[in-house]
Amino acid sequence: MTENGQLLLELRNLEKSFGGLRALQGASLEIAQGQTVALVGDNGAGKSTLVKAIAGIQPADSGQIRLRGQDVTISSPKDAGEMGIEVVYQDLALANSLDVAGNIFLGEEPLKVKLGWFSVPDTKQMDAETAETLERLRIRIPDPGRPVANLSGGQRQAVAIGRSIRKGARELLVLDEPTAALGVEEVRKVLGLIGTLKDEGQTMMIVSHDLEHVFMVSDLIAVMRQGRVVATVKTSDVTKTDVVGLIVGDIEGAVA
Ligand SMILES: Nc1ncnc2c1ncn2[C@@H]1O[C@H](COP(=O)(O)OP(=O)(O)O)[C@@H](O)[C@H]1O
Ligand SMILES: [Mg+2]
Repeated sequence: MTENGQLLLELRNLEKSFGGLRALQGASLEIAQGQTVALVGDNGAGKSTLVKAIAGIQPADSGQIRLRGQDVTISSPKDAGEMGIEVVYQDLALANSLDVAGNIFLGEEPLKVKLGWFSVPDTKQMDAETAETLERLRIRIPDPGRPVANLSGGQRQAVAIGRSIRKGARELLVLDEPTAALGVEEVRKVLGLIGTLKDEGQTMMIVSHDLEHVFMVSDLIAVMRQGRVVATVKTSDVTKTDVVGLIVGDIEGAVA
């Protein structure tokens, strides 16, 4: 049923306009189970708009989305979550004053006591599940009881990914610029984390500006230009120069 290589997500002819501006102009993309697809393209190419359509934050005006061969409508992040699609955004949206467990469970805390408006979160269960999630992702945070405001960029990225994984990105995990604004060592850790997820068979779509990182982690590269996916290429078949050519339009696209 759920073998690697099986078609997981199909986007067909997505269109999205903002007033007269056509941010998506017939964007189509296929992602197979277990694949890591990098989504690249110049600023304004439509990457974030595409991600928001999949995430239900800003549904497309028209076009189809199929998940495992079924037509689906993703009208809200809740819809996406229920379908097993989770997105980690660039700005991460962490609650800075809460600790790691508080962020991993944000808004979905298991309760120990619930009497009308009065409830007590089960912090023991939260801490245990948080430790389990961090362990599974091989993330080490020395003092997870501190507010996450005090964590480094890489640790914050790890917490955000941990939250999505705990919520269950059972179909697709989308990472928006996961290595932007991180130091060298932190980038190494986040790329390592992506590798761990890949080994577990997690299907991922990674939006990135950094072609070096794209080449390190992706199986396929999807290039967007002017609201369309103009090329989908196997990472092992192309060079960075080829991808830059596709991004800027020196090379005509061809969808593999
Ligand atoms: N909410 C919005 N309102 C108006 N224009 C938008 C909005 N979101 C994106 N756009 C425009 O749509 C185009 C695609 O943007 P975006 O998807 O953010 O590109 P990318 O993520 O590839 O840089 C850009 O021209 C951008 O200015
Ligand atoms: Mg963007």
